[in-house]
Amino acid sequence: EHDSTVSIVVVGASGDLAKKKIFPALFALYYEDCLPKHFTVFGYARSKMTDAELRDMVSRTLTCRIDKRENCSEKMEQFLKRCFYHSGQYDSEKNFAELDTKLRDHEGGRVSNRLFYLSIPPNIFTEVVKCASKSASSANGWTRVIVEKPFGRDAESSAALTRDLKQYLVEDQIFRIDHYLGKELVENLSVLRFSNLIFEPLWSRQYIRNVQFIFSEDFGTEGRGGYFDNYGIIRDIMQNHLLQILALFAMETPVSLDAEDVRNEKVKVLRSMKPLQLENVVVGQYKSHTKGGVTYPAYTDDKTVPKGSLTPTFAAAALFINNARWDGVPFLMKAGKALHSKIAEIRVQFRHVPGNLFNRSFGTDLDRATNELVIRVQPDEGIYLKINNKVPGLAMRLDRSNLNLHYAARYSKEIPDAYERLLLDAIEGERRLFIRSDELDAAWALFTPVLKELEEKKVMPEFYPYGSRGPVGAHYLAARHNVQWGDIS
Ligand code: BG6
Repeated sequence: EHDSTVSIVVVGASGDLAKKKIFPALFALYYEDCLPKHFTVFGYARSKMTDAELRDMVSRTLTCRIDKRENCSEKMEQFLKRCFYHSGQYDSEKNFAELDTKLRDHEGGRVSNRLFYLSIPPNIFTEVVKCASKSASSANGWTRVIVEKPFGRDAESSAALTRDLKQYLVEDQIFRIDHYLGKELVENLSVLRFSNLIFEPLWSRQYIRNVQFIFSEDFGTEGRGGYFDNYGIIRDIMQNHLLQILALFAMETPVSLDAEDVRNEKVKVLRSMKPLQLENVVVGQYKSHTKGGVTYPAYTDDKTVPKGSLTPTFAAAALFINNARWDGVPFLMKAGKALHSKIAEIRVQFRHVPGNLFNRSFGTDLDRATNELVIRVQPDEGIYLKINNKVPGLAMRLDRSNLNLHYAARYSKEIPDAYERLLLDAIEGERRLFIRSDELDAAWALFTPVLKELEEKKVMPEFYPYGSRGPVGAHYLAARHNVQWGDIS
């Protein structure tokens, strides 16, 4: 430990993700004393910048969110002193070799570990990896590369990208981020399931009627239309974030918490699923809406989006897992932009109580009387279980109440950002929360056929007003599988 050093190279240092997420996460780790004793952070990008200018740029995004400890600004100063910048082209071996010289200077002869964070567009991943891995071959510790989606846009392009990267790296060096796996409540999912006797025995088709994975944002593509239009909501959210949560939700008990054991179970469940069918998908796109004198734009009003684009900004889907545990249970997903609220949650709807003594007290809507477990990933993290109880009083009237674990009330410490956990794991070589290439292949296998069909048939999205609850088609889709969306009913 003491004679090794980690150089963290943020490639694409002046980009949005770097400024908003990566540098602040690195600072938070530093602040919490989680970074190794010897480390340096290097920004790398094309624009000309001095170290001082990089520090100035980074400093504007750092906050002392943890608590207002007095030494925060001092810590910031110390952190910024460890930040440097190197300007270079993304495909220039020469520029990366210059970076390497600087890194070696900082490493001062210690065992040198290198972590490259590729915060850049996917079309230059391979070039950067080629140059970076060449220059890093002088390092005598490990070299790891963090990549962010998009990992291709279908099964074929994703496989091609993997092949390209593997010319220069082995699988163990590639850390594919899905930042939803770094979220506190997603990490807690396995704890909830496997450490509480009251849940795991119920976690099957025998007791669970359906499971819903819901993602909504209350803003549109806002300037990201250029990227988004080439992908759409299914690739942007479902194929990765929601599917990853589904895999953790539905997998069998892993042998241990080791990365390979957990990822083996995740990939098994993904491979037990049938590819999504066109009849089980509803797509939507937001249109302009005026409310309270304010006009909210349509998706196609975004200057970077081609006129008449059919790219979905909303999708709902029903998926099935062909195994003994989940046969016949609908797994519903819903994801959309420019909806009425910002929320990400999992809803587990349990079956009816057989021969329920109290059926009469529920009136006609028996579905409303079943238990529902809600895991709110964000915002306002929490877990609550809807149970039936008697309204106090002399009459036998039933009510639904929540057994509620509300994180803000239970824990005073702020929840770390997903990127903090993931960066720390990458530095420590913990791969459990990163996507292995076979998981990625399995995820694409599920969505590629339907994505192609949607595009070939030019399926018209259902238009929904900005700020609404999305297209009504999502209800019909759910109803065909005897499901009501829990967030609306
Ligand atoms: C990203 C998507 O992966 O996740 C964005 O590309 C989306 O479109 C974002 O806004 C949501 O992440 P979070 O952590 O803000 O919920």
